[in-house]
Amino acid sequence: MISQKQLQVLAFGESRYDALICDGAIRSGKTAFMSVGFVLWAMKYFTGRNFAICGKTVGTAMKNIVVPLMDLSYMRRRYDMKLSRAENKLTVSRGGRTNTFYIYGGKDESSYMLIQGITLAGVMLDETALMTRSFVEQALARCSVEGSKFWFNCNPAGPKHWFYEEWVCKAEEKNALHLHFEMRDNPSLSEEMLRRYESLYTGVFYQRYILGLWVNAEGTIYREFAGAVTSAQNRFLWPPDQKLKPWRVNIGVDFGGHLSKHSFVAVGVLPGWSGCVGLMSCRVEPYGEDADHLAVQFLRFAQAVFSRYGRIDAVYADSAEQTLIRHLISRAQASELPWLAVRIGNSAKIEINDRIRLTSILMAAGRFWYMPEAQTLRDALAAALWDSRSPAQDRRLDDGTTDIDTLDAFEYAIERDYKRYLKSSEVNG
Ligand SMILES: Nc1ncnc2c1ncn2[C@@H]1O[C@H](COP(=O)(O)OP(=O)(O)OP(=O)(O)O)[C@@H](O)[C@H]1O
Ligand SMILES: [Mg+2]
Repeated sequence: MISQKQLQVLAFGESRYDALICDGAIRSGKTAFMSVGFVLWAMKYFTGRNFAICGKTVGTAMKNIVVPLMDLSYMRRRYDMKLSRAENKLTVSRGGRTNTFYIYGGKDESSYMLIQGITLAGVMLDETALMTRSFVEQALARCSVEGSKFWFNCNPAGPKHWFYEEWVCKAEEKNALHLHFEMRDNPSLSEEMLRRYESLYTGVFYQRYILGLWVNAEGTIYREFAGAVTSAQNRFLWPPDQKLKPWRVNIGVDFGGHLSKHSFVAVGVLPGWSGCVGLMSCRVEPYGEDADHLAVQFLRFAQAVFSRYGRIDAVYADSAEQTLIRHLISRAQASELPWLAVRIGNSAKIEINDRIRLTSILMAAGRFWYMPEAQTLRDALAAALWDSRSPAQDRRLDDGTTDIDTLDAFEYAIERDYKRYLKSSEVNG
């Protein structure tokens, strides 16, 4: 079954429009139908030409676009498709016609260099709002072949985002067909799946990813959490009558500077990454650059966590401070927890908005709790704010008025399991 919107995507190649913009909800079939429509159009009207298939990175373009396209039996029956992973290109042939589709990443430096030299007859940009503006503009500028078209799709960001202002709002002026997608435009989703996806998001993420609206990230980041913390039946506090035996225990460490404090957060992982619990957290004055003081405080914290929960599997510390990390390791070797030394390593530092997204998903799905000993973590999460001074970009407020140190430490403890947590909810973000 194919929805009306999806049929419009397939028919766009035949239309009088120069560009197609599909924005809106996740899982609505934007990528799937745009990829098919793009190749059908290219093969019908051109031969011996180059096209660009762009994702956020080359890797995501391969995974979300090229591999699913090559797996479709409809496409396999119709075309001869050859993928060269070494050259990041897909060659498609049928009945004496051949076109080449180069695969780029809108956030990859190397893609920007590579796309500069090429002449294109069309470009498909998947998740356009996540690409750099310079890459997108370069890709469009390469389309000099008569009859070329632009195919854009994305989930919404803020209303000041350049793509919204320049393309979505100016669709008519640019002779672009704008199709707004909702999850119900994907007929393959059952009511149960729709409800499950809806329950994954709250706040600004719900408005963007479920309703498909271009709205600002403003005010409190974790609204439901902040609300629950002040209510009598706080659903995020681990139930006192329920025994807690974490499957794994990770500690995140953020080092303080002259304006901030050292922050330690221990997180318990529940079996199969089904959820996590903030176990213990604390903040410590840095006393200038006294690395010994830091090590003593850290080991005291680690000892408390170990005595209570019987394990510490990994410590992820702010990777910007290698000297301090080495100091923690050497002091751990000489401590009562010498085995801890080899478990101390670097934070992964994934993008802050990805960390926020992970935390929101865990909270929305009822997969995050905290213990009474994690009070600084509770307060930091409840107080986290979006920065109202940067409407063009989602940015967390980091001006010293909120406890960013503790948020960082918490995120270092969970971010390395990003994919495992999402996989456990069977959502591949
Ligand atoms: N009409 C349909 N029939 C069968 N399967 C469909 C249909 N439409 C979409 N799907 C499937 O639903 C899933 C989600 O579609 P797709 O990835 O294209 O959504 P999307 O809008 O690009 O989502 P996101 O914004 O998360 O990238 C895919 O597995 C896709 O193959
Ligand atoms: Mg998509």
